[in-house]
Order: sequence, then C-alpha cells, then structure tokens
Amino acid sequence: MANIKYPPYERHVFICLNERPAGNPRGDCKSKGAEKVLERFKKLVDEKGLKPRIRAQKSGCLDTCELGVSVVVYPEAVWYAKVTEADVDEIVESHLMRGVPVERLRMHPSIPRDSSKILPAGGA
Ligand code: FES
Repeated sequence: MANIKYPPYERHVFICLNERPAGNPRGDCKSKGAEKVLERFKKLVDEKGLKPRIRAQKSGCLDTCELGVSVVVYPEAVWYAKVTEADVDEIVESHLMRGVPVERLRMHPSIPRDSSKILPAGGA
C-alpha cells in the first residue's frame, strides 16, 4: 500500500457493456458494439504506453441507454454518446492524451463549461 498513489489514475474511462433481452425498448450498449469499443480502448491504452496512468474498463448500465454505446471519462465527467469502434482512436489521442474532449461525440457539450481547465495526461 505504501507505494500506491491515490487516486491511481489520471483518467478513468468507463464503457457500458450492459446487455438486455432482445426487444427491450431502451436497447443496450452491448448490442450496439460495446465489446469492440472496449477492446479498442484497452488496446490503444496499452499500445500508447498510457498504463498505469489511464485505465479503460467495462461498466454496467450508465442509464443513457438510448445514446449508447455510452462512455464516460473521469475526472472531467465528459460523457460520450453513440461511440463506435471507429471513434475510439480520436477519443484516446485527443481527450486521453491531450486533454481535448471530442466535441462531436459529447452528450452534453457544455459540461464542463471551461474545457481549457482540462489538463493533458501527465498534468503538463
Ligand atoms: S445499456 Fe449502456 S447505458 Fe444503459
């Protein structure tokens, strides 16, 4: 415990992998390709040497099912909607590495209001 820094991650990415029975009116992220999105995040975080500063992991339902695949990045609390595997490289390179959220994918573009306060990975 002595050598572990808390919080352990500069950025923590949650990708909803929830699954519902076919025909559920809310739908679910798993049927919209969430597994591919998660795999791509994990691969890029590894390949780009972002471990252990940045972690991407699956989550349960984030309650924005209609907008899935749902992804949220903390500590900024930037939520992304309808994320596909093809969007992941841009989120990793822009948001996770440079601290610049991908505006075209955000659920609530005004939050946080001042994105200039978002720091690049490494805090520089
Ligand atoms: S099923 Fe993904 S947000 Fe609910």
